[in-house]
Amino acid sequence: MSGNRIYLDHAATTPLRESAKKAMRQAAERFGNPSSLHTEGRAAKETIDSAREAVSTALGCLFAEVIFTGSGTESANLAVIGAALANEDPRRTKVLISSVEHHCVLHTAPILRRLGYEPVSIPVRADSEIDLNALEALVDDRTLLVSVMHANNETGRLQPVNTIAEIAHRHGSLYHCDATQTFLKGSAPLPIGEHGDDCCDLLTVSFHKVNGPKGVGALYVRGGVKVKPFVSGGEQEREIRGGTENLIGIAGAGAAVRDHLNTPSPDSSEAKVTLLNSLLAEGFVPTVTNQEGVLAGHVHGRFPGLDAETLLIRLDRGGIAASSGAACSSGSIEPSHVMLACGYSESEAKESVRFTLGDGNTPEQMRDASEIILKCVRSMRESRAVL
Ligand SMILES: Cc1ncc(COP(=O)(O)O)c(C=O)c1O
Repeated sequence: MSGNRIYLDHAATTPLRESAKKAMRQAAERFGNPSSLHTEGRAAKETIDSAREAVSTALGCLFAEVIFTGSGTESANLAVIGAALANEDPRRTKVLISSVEHHCVLHTAPILRRLGYEPVSIPVRADSEIDLNALEALVDDRTLLVSVMHANNETGRLQPVNTIAEIAHRHGSLYHCDATQTFLKGSAPLPIGEHGDDCCDLLTVSFHKVNGPKGVGALYVRGGVKVKPFVSGGEQEREIRGGTENLIGIAGAGAAVRDHLNTPSPDSSEAKVTLLNSLLAEGFVPTVTNQEGVLAGHVHGRFPGLDAETLLIRLDRGGIAASSGAACSSGSIEPSHVMLACGYSESEAKESVRFTLGDGNTPEQMRDASEIILKCVRSMRESRAVL
């Protein structure tokens, strides 16, 4: 790939940190099974313990509250389906899921139905913030679990997670928070604490979003909270997730987390403002007006009248990797379920673009990026005018 490319898709994934690559190379030399009692097995177990230690420090929880999984998707599935499988109270049959959750939570709905639960959608406002009044009206003593993400992966909107936890707990319901987009970002504190009412019971993270490898996630399971495995087998991960652990991946995840704790990513706020201001001057309409409620490196919105897919293809040719944030099916972008939930029409939803900043995106680089983006926008407008 050319060194001149500008990567603005950090919400999709991030490059591996050198420390993670090194730890993975080292772990590749450790072939022991972490469940074995001999020297080789114990060496492998130490690698996993050290990663778990780093993750629990980053989360601010106990060592034993971290369960390694195969992805953020699996963690969220384990939270929702695992809580449903473990539920022993037959009156609790409702599971409330925000309408803007990632598909890894939304798509548990049919499975929940098969298990005899009633998934209920929590609506959001036009800027994708959860409607707290609607949540108050929906949650009751029949609610097993409420799942609302910490920040939306498309719009970057932070949710009032502490209030959501309080509302859920007032009714004895569990609260699962998908923190895949906020873990180690410093944008807002994770709702993990002294097990207070305003904290979550289950929390999902994924390590490829924080310069670790793909295919490794973790679920925080607050002490005392019960989740049953759907990957059953051995006694790994406190019998919550069977299967010999992904030693190399977990080693890389642990190293990336430790590295972030020692050397946090530079703040991208200034670079974001540089980019956002240039886009605003060219008619860009952000989905969230008040940027205080948005992740530091996140820019999401529309150039009204311009199809996002065409723009993104042109940007890619121009050297910029960006995204719509929405799912891609058969090579074309679907109208985003998040934008539809916010009340946008299908054609408006197909106009939404997302630029997500991370390590290496400086304000100077954002000036170059703005020039390329605006050139593409203007040329698309000109070709529309000719038609
Ligand atoms: C909010 C959110 N949750 C979950 C996931 C899924 O994580 P993974 O890619 O590790 O399955 C993502 C990834 O895009 C995400 O943005």
